[in-house]
Amino acid sequence: MSENTIIQNDKQHVWHHLTQHKAFETVDPLVIVKGKGMVVTDSKGDDYLDATSGGVWTVNLGFGRDDMVEVVSNQLKDLPYFAGSFGTEPGAKFAQKLTSLMPGLDRVYYSNSGSEANEKGYKMVRQRAHSYNDGKKHKIIYRDRDYHGTTIGALSSTGHAQRKNQYGPFAPGFVEMPHCCCYRCPFGKKYGECNIECAHALETIIKQEGPDTVGSVVLEPITAGGGVIPPVPEYFPIIESICRKYDVLLHIDEVVCGIGRTGKWFGYQNYDVQPDIVTIAKGLAAGYAAISVTVTSEKVFDYFKQDPTDPESYFRDISTFGGCTAGPVAGVKTLSIIQSENLLENVNTMGDYLMDKLFELQEKHPVIGDVRGKGLLCGVELVKDRKTKEPLSDEIVIAIAGHCLKNKVMIGRSNRSFVNANNVLLFSPAFITTKSDIDAIITAVDNALEVNT
Ligand SMILES: Cc1ncc(COP(=O)(O)O)c(C=O)c1O
Repeated sequence: MSENTIIQNDKQHVWHHLTQHKAFETVDPLVIVKGKGMVVTDSKGDDYLDATSGGVWTVNLGFGRDDMVEVVSNQLKDLPYFAGSFGTEPGAKFAQKLTSLMPGLDRVYYSNSGSEANEKGYKMVRQRAHSYNDGKKHKIIYRDRDYHGTTIGALSSTGHAQRKNQYGPFAPGFVEMPHCCCYRCPFGKKYGECNIECAHALETIIKQEGPDTVGSVVLEPITAGGGVIPPVPEYFPIIESICRKYDVLLHIDEVVCGIGRTGKWFGYQNYDVQPDIVTIAKGLAAGYAAISVTVTSEKVFDYFKQDPTDPESYFRDISTFGGCTAGPVAGVKTLSIIQSENLLENVNTMGDYLMDKLFELQEKHPVIGDVRGKGLLCGVELVKDRKTKEPLSDEIVIAIAGHCLKNKVMIGRSNRSFVNANNVLLFSPAFITTKSDIDAIITAVDNALEVNT
């Protein structure tokens, strides 16, 4: 198809995600047609260095991998699909391999997006409440600045006020708690002098709501789209002990962090914590197939098989595309590539290198208020003034990312999530990234900050 035809078809018929289309009356949309390694090519033949892993933390092994394509295509020849009420060979194999990396978690429920995986977790909590707690222990606590998905239930549990605007009314039974970003401590404290109030806030909220009404708390291990917020080491152990005290299930949303992004298999494994429910999507099959999972402990699973005489006691949920076999087979291959190519090690080494370079940029550019991250999940918070921490305007942040794009480097940014606080640049190159890629990313950002601030 010619370049013009691709663009005309796109302009006339495609509704892009997160996009105001009026602009396309005067400029062409960017249409990506292929990729190899860390580089993608648009319909005009221009190459871009992708520091976003496919825009949203997904193509973690890089583009154009024949080894991934081969396992998926072979599987499609054997069996492309069968409904998830039956077993399949890739489903069984991937569940075993995945849970072998997650001590204390044993069951894998397949679906096809991060939002859906979270919805499954919420439905498990709600049904457990009905079966064991007269329907009372159904509330789900979520955190300000965490994102859990786009469906109404997942959005109801999301702390991005601007992203939620105009999509209400939301589902009842979701309760917000403060975030844990030290740079903007909701309690006005300083780490080292504080009592980790952000974690203890969970207990206050559970008590306010009534412990017999709270079923779970859902948290990103490191907040991603909400501005890259790694918690302090004390945070998760406190959260877990509060959960245990009040019989509240701990649901960790690993949709971004899961499978290596933070330098460990799972984000939560950077902290001393044992979840009950873990949801994973995005990088689970590195973007070579759509797949998500809700992984639970055997204890959670057991709630749903205790009374076989009750026709409503088992988990009565289905996801049509949770029966696709390409996802689990690509998931098995993703795990084996990460292991055989020592990619966790590369995530750690390159992540440290990227962070060092971002700190160097911070010394040079006063607009960089804070640099945060772990592994290859890094963020740079931009401010008008380091003292007041007033966020840099959306317009300038957009211009900085746009400047990088003009120079053929794709970086991410927090995107219309919070009024007056969409001020974090996001960096998440694929796990195969090299020092020279990172140098090129840093040069583009340096340049963009020079010109736009
Ligand atoms: C932490 C987190 N959870 C859930 C989701 C939703 O995933 P999906 O877009 O696959 O529904 C996202 C998407 O960005 C996410 O960042």
